[in-house]
Amino acid sequence: MLRPALRPRYAHKILARGLATVRDGQPTEKKPPTAVVMLNMGGPSTLDQVHSFLSNLFHDSDLIPLPMQKVLAPLIAKRRTPKIEEQYKEIGGGSPILRWTRTQGEGMAALLDELNPESAPHKAYVAFRYAEPLTETCLEEMRADGVQRAVAFTQYPQYSCSTTGSSLNELYRVAKKEGWGANGEVKWSAIDRWPAHPGLVKAFAANIRKTLESFAPETRDEVVILFSAHSLPIEIVNRGDTYTPEVAATVYAVMQELNFSNPYRLTWQSKVGPKAWQGPQTAAMVEGLAKRGHKDICLVPVAFTSDHIETLFELDIELKEDADKLGVNLTRAGSLNDSPIFVRALADIVSTHLRDFDAGNVGSASKQLMLRCPECTSPRCARTKSWIQKGGREAEA
Ligand code: FES
Repeated sequence: MLRPALRPRYAHKILARGLATVRDGQPTEKKPPTAVVMLNMGGPSTLDQVHSFLSNLFHDSDLIPLPMQKVLAPLIAKRRTPKIEEQYKEIGGGSPILRWTRTQGEGMAALLDELNPESAPHKAYVAFRYAEPLTETCLEEMRADGVQRAVAFTQYPQYSCSTTGSSLNELYRVAKKEGWGANGEVKWSAIDRWPAHPGLVKAFAANIRKTLESFAPETRDEVVILFSAHSLPIEIVNRGDTYTPEVAATVYAVMQELNFSNPYRLTWQSKVGPKAWQGPQTAAMVEGLAKRGHKDICLVPVAFTSDHIETLFELDIELKEDADKLGVNLTRAGSLNDSPIFVRALADIVSTHLRDFDAGNVGSASKQLMLRCPECTSPRCARTKSWIQKGGREAEA
């Protein structure tokens, strides 16, 4: 049960709520917020969180299936920690993803209060998969606030079973383990993907237009727009994962918004290990373009909604160094971070979902979420999907 495991900072809130329920015979309790739970992978905010972040990451078999996972995961995490700590040192000592997620969430919740007064107040919660605030922390905070209605809102615009799927599996697992949130205490629904939402597309396009202005006007139209997304092991793609086509959908919609003003390609970054991953790799593409004489590149991270290690270190430091050596003018479009267009898009996605849900136009889970990968063998996926479809209730025994 959750109560004995409560951390002190939330325990007093739950007690206070209980005491304040009735005063002078009148209910005095404030209306609990409609929770919008922002799901993402997270990142270590400080260097001393790097090891636990890596340990959580390598223990996640939805993301990295390993033989003897419980044995190998701690070994790999320990071995990689010093190198990854160095990378975080180079970007200022930690990941900014929590700061950006909170900024985006607060802006979104404020807009939602205006857009959907009937479900106000709205409050953004953060549930990271590998760093604090982890799902346990998020659920404690929600329980302390008396939440009864929650939307699990993925911050990965394009769905993958290894990212959004993993976060949803974790949400169900932790809620069940902690004894709160898994069996009717909260009415759940999920927003599982939004790869071509017009606001997302406009936010990307605005940042690209701004970046293109930094190139010489006479060659600006020939700058290659290179979209870069985090890659996936090809075995996940071949299982029937929808990430690859959904990233392509984002890219095509953004280019449509730009009236196909420039040549473009979609490439994939962050491959690790010896196995085959979705390609072509971003670094190899920059090299290949340079060989063909394309020396002006506008780089666009298209699957991240804020800066973190993959943009600030991998693209801005490592790839930029490679490009400089090749004589390529590689300029990265800014991440969405505190883009007002993007924050409005987040609010619009949730606002529409809440209205459609209340009107009965959509269920707790989308039809697309309910279709398992044809080659999926994970019982976790089946249980989680069924739980969400039932609005956060366990299946009858
Ligand atoms: Fe895709 Fe299980 S791996 S549904």
